[in-house]
Amino acid sequence: MQDLQLFPFDSDHSVEYQTSRYPLMRYMGSKNKLVPWIHEALKSLEFESALDAFSGSGVVSYLMKAMDKKVYSNDFLNFSSVISKGVIENNTEVIDSNDLRRLLDMNAKSDDFIQKTFKDIFYDSADLLFLDAISANISHLDSKYKKALAYTSLFRSCLKKQPRGVFTISGNLDRYNDGRRDLRLSLKEHFVEQVKIYNEVVFDNHKENASFNLNVFDFSNKMYKPDLVYMDPPYVPASDDNCYVKRYHFLEGLSKYWKGEEIMKNTKVKKIKKKYTAFSYRKTAIQAFEEMFDKFSDSTLVLSYSSNAYPDLETLISIMRNHKSDVEVKVKPHKYHFGNHSSVSRSNVNEYLVIGQS
Ligand SMILES: C[S@@+](CC[C@H](N)C(=O)[O-])C[C@H]1O[C@@H](n2cnc3c(N)ncnc32)[C@H](O)[C@@H]1O
Repeated sequence: MQDLQLFPFDSDHSVEYQTSRYPLMRYMGSKNKLVPWIHEALKSLEFESALDAFSGSGVVSYLMKAMDKKVYSNDFLNFSSVISKGVIENNTEVIDSNDLRRLLDMNAKSDDFIQKTFKDIFYDSADLLFLDAISANISHLDSKYKKALAYTSLFRSCLKKQPRGVFTISGNLDRYNDGRRDLRLSLKEHFVEQVKIYNEVVFDNHKENASFNLNVFDFSNKMYKPDLVYMDPPYVPASDDNCYVKRYHFLEGLSKYWKGEEIMKNTKVKKIKKKYTAFSYRKTAIQAFEEMFDKFSDSTLVLSYSSNAYPDLETLISIMRNHKSDVEVKVKPHKYHFGNHSSVSRSNVNEYLVIGQS
C-alpha cells in the first residue's frame, strides 16, 4: 500500500497546498478557480462542521476537509456523490497494486451493455470493451471506498477523452482532434494514471465526513446539524444549455451501470432523463431560495452567486435577511469564458459570496 498524505492541516499553507492538488474536473460551474478566495472568506467564520449542499466536482468539500472541518457533501447526481464518497468521506483507503491488477483484468466475466448501447458514439470499441469490463471489476472490489475511488478515476478518464469535456456531441469527433495527448491515450491508460492521481488526493482529517446523494430539500439537517451550509446551486439558464444531466449523462449512467435509468433511445447520444431542479426555472427559483434558507436557518449560510444570474443579488439578500440579521456580501470580479464551436466570448461577471449569520 502506498503512503497516504496524513499530515495535519494546521497552517494556511498546507490548506492551500492540499487544495491545489485536487484534480481539475472541467465540471460546469466548478468553483475550482475561486477556491483561494472562498478559503479566505471561510477562514473568518467559526464552524466545525459544514454541508456542501451542491457539491458537483467536490472541490469546495475538499477545501473544507483540508480546513479540518467535518464535511457533509451532497449532490442529487449520483456520480457526483460517488466522487465525494471517494475523496471526502474516505479518509484512508487507496487502490493498491493488487486492486489495480484485478481492476484491469480483461478476462473477468462482464456484460456488454456499454458496447451495445454506445457503439460509435463517444469512444472506440477497445475503450467500450474496457468500460464494460472495468464496471464489472469495480463491482467486485470489497470496499465501498475503493469502489468510489475507482469510479472517480474512471469519470475523470472519460471526461479527459471527450474533446470538449461534455457528452453532448457524438460520432466523428475528428474536427475537435487537435492531437492532444488526452485524446490519444486509451481509457485504460488514462485510468491507470488517474488511479495514481486520486490515491494521492486521499487524506485523513480525522473527522467523520459523509457523502449524500439527495435533493437538497431532503437533507436531514435536524439529524446532522451542520454549523455552516455552503450553497452553490445551478443558475436559471439563458437557454437549455446548462442542464447537468444533458452534459454528464454518460457519467451518471456509468456510476450505476445505468441501473434504474431509462435511456431515451431516440436521442443521438443515448441520454437519460433530465432531473428536475427548482433552481433552474424563473418560475420556481425564488421560492426555492426561500425554502432553502428557511430549512438551513439554524446554520451559517454561505451562498455562491454571480452577477449574471437570476434572481439578482438584491433579491437574494432580502430573502436571506428574512432568516439572518447579519448579511454580508464578498465580491470578486471574474472573467468568464463561454463559447460554442465557432466562437468563444468573454464577459466580466462579479462572483459573490453572500454570508448570513446570527
Ligand atoms: C454549480 S454546480 C456546483 C459546483 C460545485 N460547487 C463545484 O465547485 O464543483 C451545481 C450542482 O448542483 C446539483 N444540483 C442541482 N439541483 C440540485 C438539488 N435540488 N439538490 C441537490 N443537488 C442539486 C447539480 O447536480 C450540480 O452538481
